[in-house]
Amino acid sequence: MRGKIIAANWKMNMKYPAGLALFSDMIDMIHTEVTGPQQTVVCCPFIHLHALAQLAIGHPTISVGAENCHEAESGAFTGEISAGMIRSTGADYVILGHSERRKYNGETSALVCKKTEIALKNTLNPIVCIGETKEERAANRQFECLKRQLDDSAFPLDSNQFSKLVIAYEPIWAIGTSQTASAAQAQDIHRFIRQEIAIRYDQEMADNTLLLYGGSCKPDNAVELFSQPDIDGGLIGGASLNAREFVDIVKVYN
Ligand code: PGA
Repeated sequence: MRGKIIAANWKMNMKYPAGLALFSDMIDMIHTEVTGPQQTVVCCPFIHLHALAQLAIGHPTISVGAENCHEAESGAFTGEISAGMIRSTGADYVILGHSERRKYNGETSALVCKKTEIALKNTLNPIVCIGETKEERAANRQFECLKRQLDDSAFPLDSNQFSKLVIAYEPIWAIGTSQTASAAQAQDIHRFIRQEIAIRYDQEMADNTLLLYGGSCKPDNAVELFSQPDIDGGLIGGASLNAREFVDIVKVYN
């Protein structure tokens, strides 16, 4: 049976002391209120990684992740952070190919694939994001768009590499808009992604891959979304900046 993951994506929020305080509150709440085996992964800006990873020691169901990494191992890339550097902070995960990076930093699926490979080489678990735009959805081209993103961002990987990935479906029109995909819409897409994984790899891989939903996920809609058979958790942006809201989402799997 595959597990469940609720991942936070703080994006470019939280100054250093505020981030520490937020994470400490989350740990306290998770410790007293979360009864299930679900994994919580807090993905945060680089400045927080080491301190959060230290705070997470002794909490086996809580992990820390970055929001991006560079595609090279090391070198003259002023201002960049490598996968190995992230790993050395104690972080276990990295979000790759988020639609905001694809849009504002021009990241292509081919680049996302390179980053995924270097993350895996450095024993980080990549959370690879895919999602269609509002226009693609309006033209009923969401499946075609997601298939292309899978083909170029993740499917070039071999089975051993792919088996370590988490895939997050984040419809761009639902991110930060309060316009969540309906549970049925999200389930349709997650089923499609699983079928594509079975075609590219095999049924066992499809059954074992964790697929997260992201896009205006809140405590009140998480219950229905997370009860869909092909949804294994969420990638939470806005609601992860509030410990109470975020832990209420984590608790859906209690
Ligand atoms: P949101 O962001 O929950 O604020 O919509 C999700 C994401 O971008 O990962």
